[in-house]
Amino acid sequence: MNGRELVRSMKVLGSVEGLRLVRSAWRRHRIDARALPPRGAERARVPGPVVEAEPLPGGGIIRFARSELRVSVSAGGTVFWGWDGAGPLPSYALAGDPPEPDPRAVLEPDTDGGWRVVSERVTVAVSRHGAVEVRTPGGVVLRRDLPPRWWEPVRNGESRGGESRGGESRGRTSRGTETAAGQGGSGEGSPWTARRAARWVQRSEVPADARFFGLGGRASGPRLRDGSYRLWNTDPSAAFSPGDDPLYITMPVQLVVADAGTHLAFHDNSWDGRVLLSEGEEGAGSGHDRPGTSELRMEGGPLRCWVIVGTPARVLHGWAALTGAPALPPSWALGPQHARWGFGSEREVRRVVDGYRDRGLPLSVLHLDIDHYDGHRVFTVDRERFPDLSGLADELRERGVRLVSIVDPAVKAEPGNAVYEGGRAAGAFVRDDRGEEVRGVVWPGECAYPDFTDPKARKWWGGLYEERLKQGFSGVWHDMNEPVSFAPFGDRTLPRSARHCLEGRGGDHREAHNVYGLAMAQAGYEGLRALRPEERPFLFSRSGWAGMQRYGGTWSGDVSTGWPGLRASLALVLGLGLCGVPYSGPDVGGFDGAPSPELFLRWYQLGAWLPLFRTHAAFDAGRREPWEFGPEVLEHARAALLERERLRPYFVTLSRLARMTGAPYVRPVWWGTPEDRALRDCEDAFLLGDSLLVAPVLSQGTDRRAVRLPRGWWYDTATGRAYEGPGQVLLDAPLSRVPVLARAGAVIPVRGEDGEPALEVWAPVAGRTGGGLVVRDAGDGWEQAEIERYQSRLVDGRVVVERVTDEGVEEAGLPVRVRGRAGSDG
Ligand code: NOJ
Repeated sequence: MNGRELVRSMKVLGSVEGLRLVRSAWRRHRIDARALPPRGAERARVPGPVVEAEPLPGGGIIRFARSELRVSVSAGGTVFWGWDGAGPLPSYALAGDPPEPDPRAVLEPDTDGGWRVVSERVTVAVSRHGAVEVRTPGGVVLRRDLPPRWWEPVRNGESRGGESRGGESRGRTSRGTETAAGQGGSGEGSPWTARRAARWVQRSEVPADARFFGLGGRASGPRLRDGSYRLWNTDPSAAFSPGDDPLYITMPVQLVVADAGTHLAFHDNSWDGRVLLSEGEEGAGSGHDRPGTSELRMEGGPLRCWVIVGTPARVLHGWAALTGAPALPPSWALGPQHARWGFGSEREVRRVVDGYRDRGLPLSVLHLDIDHYDGHRVFTVDRERFPDLSGLADELRERGVRLVSIVDPAVKAEPGNAVYEGGRAAGAFVRDDRGEEVRGVVWPGECAYPDFTDPKARKWWGGLYEERLKQGFSGVWHDMNEPVSFAPFGDRTLPRSARHCLEGRGGDHREAHNVYGLAMAQAGYEGLRALRPEERPFLFSRSGWAGMQRYGGTWSGDVSTGWPGLRASLALVLGLGLCGVPYSGPDVGGFDGAPSPELFLRWYQLGAWLPLFRTHAAFDAGRREPWEFGPEVLEHARAALLERERLRPYFVTLSRLARMTGAPYVRPVWWGTPEDRALRDCEDAFLLGDSLLVAPVLSQGTDRRAVRLPRGWWYDTATGRAYEGPGQVLLDAPLSRVPVLARAGAVIPVRGEDGEPALEVWAPVAGRTGGGLVVRDAGDGWEQAEIERYQSRLVDGRVVVERVTDEGVEEAGLPVRVRGRAGSDG
């Protein structure tokens, strides 16, 4: 905890808490010192030479002298490989059963004494020492994972020589077979937990021209440059900048884009670890390419990996098929949102909502932070400052504004606190190796932590959202769920030895930490679904892991107020989208301090194009209402807001498409043309769906900026002028707007002037057709919505827009406004 954060915690917690923080950090240290003895002698192990192979549907098992590798290719071309008998389950990331193996995939001997699995979409070649290559059907190598190395504790009576593990590792692949082994295994005691805690390292090579993306939410992205990225969800404690790593959401998910193709590699392992990335170089030493490398160093857990290859769209589709379709936010969550830590009273909430109304600014959601709780206790209300919260919620709802509540996982540990007592009765809290409740310190003081990896704790917790619904909240905002326990030194989380249920397998915080926020999201989502089955839950969570999109989205967390923070805001949204989490956005204006009017406006103009569009700031930060920065900012912010609202049907469409296809709303500019190397390095612009290219202003004093265009024709939406890509253009970016380009031929659903659905069509260029998909708002329930397909073409210089159905082509059936060269204002 740095000085500023310590001061802030003291302000919130009171100075008595200072001592408590030190005590808590010390206690955590003591528990771990007792329960996790230092690693003793270790022995390194590598797979050794290949011995035999056994075919199985989709691939087979390849046995080596000291390990075995299971390889399976699914019918859709998704590759799984796992060492030491690791199978796809159990997994927190997977949405259900692993994909069916491809019955036509064949295991056959490879030329160098190794084996390969050949399928229609992909070939997996395993060398005789255990290197795994993923190749396109044409034989181009996308990724080469070198033989891994494990470090295992040497136990009494065991020789130091490498022994074959043959039979022991077999039989561990099916769901639940680790249960008996893990349960009750405390610390490093049992051989099974010892094996689970074996460290391992694997180095992988990718083509020399490849770029890395992903690894969760990284402030320095979206392109991940050479460096070390930790896999341990972390509250950075103070507002963060691009140099801060790790942050709240880390994931062993990397998206690799190269001329040879795009692939996603996911090491399904939730333990603490590190990824060392190094981009390659073409024609490096004496004209030879130096491949890019990724070295994964894990503190324990299984060595297993999924690889999905194809176009970016195909890869993300495969990822969503594997880990779950993104939850669909209700359409009101695609509107403008306002939050603040420290509204402090119903009166202030009304003042802010009135402020929006009086200035003709649309507002869809208002968020209440921890200051509306009674003494910061989760699932309570400060009745003095919020005497009639449900009345306030009803009133706001009539005015078209929904209330969303923060929900923190830590529960104040005090007798008389109903939530605490309920949790104790349910046996829901995390315990240490001696069975004592683990305590930490968060906003309410000393707290206990629900073990969300325990199904019964999730059920209990999910039921608590009834109180939030009764207060009139329409959605929830999960915070502090890395999980955080304040500490003046050491890791600001639970002891690494804290025991977790892990769905009955048993284990400790080293394995449970990174999935804590994900499992909390599951608890909240399932609770809300059960309590209010007719409406889709709205949930977004600060921390999470692979698969979190099944339950909701996320936001930037405490991004620092400054131009670097603005840049980081976009990096996070893009990076998370490529890890399958499409709904996110920053604290517009930054979390701390006071942005200059210019910075605030530029942040606002970025936020308006991102899925979660929400202003938010700390209680000791400057104001974030758009009218607090003078009339000029207000006018331009209003324009951004109104444009966002005009495009709400497009956002609704993108949210539906994200659910159906896994494609994020906000995509890197190389999305459709990953072979364009210049685009791969472009980090200051993005595609919003297929139709728009947004080029935000990310630096001070800019009134013109370069925009790199993907191939095809693009219209500057402000001037109607058309430009042909690929290439770079210089566009005006006055304070009043940021450059936004529309793809020629695009058909975009908008709100017409009468507020009703309409189509905006950007004229196709001669000889080309265009089109777009539209999914209409089907309400906040579970109704399926139909994808409508439109096409645009030029007929005798006139733009014709038609709907394409299974039966053929028909009239668009919606009012159409044509723009661009052939249009009225082109
Ligand atoms: C940390 C969150 O990141 C921030 O958004 C929130 O305002 C504070 N916690 C207080 O709840």
